[in-house]
Amino acid sequence: MAKFEIIVGSVLGASEYVADALAETLSNHGHSANIHLLPNLAEIDQDAIWLICTSTHGAGDLPDNIQTFAQQIALQNLNKLNFLVVGLGDSSYDTFCYAAQHMEKTLLAAKAKLLHPALHVDVLNHPIPEEVAVEWLDNVLKSTQFDD
Ligand SMILES: Cc1cc2nc3c(=O)[nH]c(=O)nc-3n(C[C@H](O)[C@H](O)[C@H](O)COP(=O)(O)O)c2cc1C
Repeated sequence: MAKFEIIVGSVLGASEYVADALAETLSNHGHSANIHLLPNLAEIDQDAIWLICTSTHGAGDLPDNIQTFAQQIALQNLNKLNFLVVGLGDSSYDTFCYAAQHMEKTLLAAKAKLLHPALHVDVLNHPIPEEVAVEWLDNVLKSTQFDD
């Protein structure tokens, strides 16, 4: 069993639904998960696996609720941290899933390890994004060995 910290970036709520579905999937696999809707580095376990779940807004911008967190981690050395990324976006924007890419790059720059290639859900093709996200996470969990 592993512990996950699900870090949500959302404006309109879709990523929150996805985060809830991902937490349920983790629980079904015997893992524990906390969901952070207003993420603050001081309250998030760095020994847990982080699951970033964020939409993109504006013109490729991070949702407001995750911007401070993104600034906090940019200053860190997170070389023991493992993470996963689920992005929600709309491929009609040429900034498709930029926020998820930004979070991934920021964590990689902080020396964290990406456990599996990110999922970028195109809400144009997937009007119920939690379906594809749960399928993806199921496969990730089946193919990845997690330490206790
Ligand atoms: C005003 C606005 C701007 C958006 N800008 C982008 C964008 O730059 N890139 C992208 O991939 N998706 C963009 N989207 C699509 C959202 O990321 C998508 O609708 C997502 O499902 C919203 O998730 P949320 O409800 O968690 O915020 C935008 C949506 C809106 C309403």
